[in-house]
Amino acid sequence: RGKRAFIAGIADDNGYGWAIAKSLAAAGAEILIGTWVPALNIFETSLKRGKFDESRVLPDGSLMNITKVYALDAVYDNLEDVPEDVKTNKRYAGASNWTVQEVAESVRNDFGSIDILVHSLANGPEVSKPLLETSRNGYLAAMSASSYSFVSLLKHFVPIMNPGGASISLTYIASERIIPGYGGGMSSAKSALQSDTRVLAFEAGRRHKIRVNTISAGPLGSRAAKAIGFIDMMIDYSLANAPLQKELLADEVGNAAAFLASPLASAITGTVLYVDNGLHAMGVGV
Ligand code: NAI
Repeated sequence: RGKRAFIAGIADDNGYGWAIAKSLAAAGAEILIGTWVPALNIFETSLKRGKFDESRVLPDGSLMNITKVYALDAVYDNLEDVPEDVKTNKRYAGASNWTVQEVAESVRNDFGSIDILVHSLANGPEVSKPLLETSRNGYLAAMSASSYSFVSLLKHFVPIMNPGGASISLTYIASERIIPGYGGGMSSAKSALQSDTRVLAFEAGRRHKIRVNTISAGPLGSRAAKAIGFIDMMIDYSLANAPLQKELLADEVGNAAAFLASPLASAITGTVLYVDNGLHAMGVGV
């Protein structure tokens, strides 16, 4: 039987989540997607109208098939967590069952189980503010959307993950080194995500035989990255200073994710894998 993957955090064809979906599909996996509620309508409409067809082409010439798209907001674990103003917000009112627990239940009802869980989402409302100017609420919101969202997804999906399965998240070097401009507690959130990768590798490994890894990806001009504002500078910096002086393609991160999710990586868990043209290894720009 082919493997089934649930990828949380796709709302267009530009980000890492889309590239990971494609690499997994090319390797034969069935693709389920979790899309942020406010972005769901436009994503599904674009998908239906064929707007992504060019980007759906796989190496063998066929088109990536997306079996189902689920509405998801990974900052809410269950209905009791959802504040009234969100419930009644018109961008949320049209969708249902989008809390993490409900999505996991829907996937179980629809398909029974999954093999691969991918977390490719982050959000920090104050990302453009230096940490010194970040509010408590902004910091906690970054942690909730970018770190706890992974703990919650794994917690709710682990019961329906087949033993031998794998989960993958995306992190950034700002968790370990100073990257001015990656503010609002986002650097803190990525540090938590990397630490949690180790602890969750232990817990999910011992209890469920599930592997947990994270990919530290180099800069990509995704929608989320453009919102931060300094992405072009980061791409230029990488081109000038990384050991491999070439553009970093989202597909290269997708392929690394497909490897980590596959039996080829059956002894790899609790790790941070750098897919960044080697930039993390430099101590000084040259
Ligand atoms: P993206 O914009 O393609 O993906 C981020 C997704 O998160 C979007 O689809 C957005 O709708 C979704 N999202 C935000 N809040 C959500 C919530 N509460 N519930 C569910 N979904 C939510 O951008 P990108 O850059 O591909 O981001 C994917 C991951 O890659 C993120 O974890 C990001 O931090 C990480 N990353 C990105 C780098 C870059 O330079 N673009 C570098 C290193 C890591």
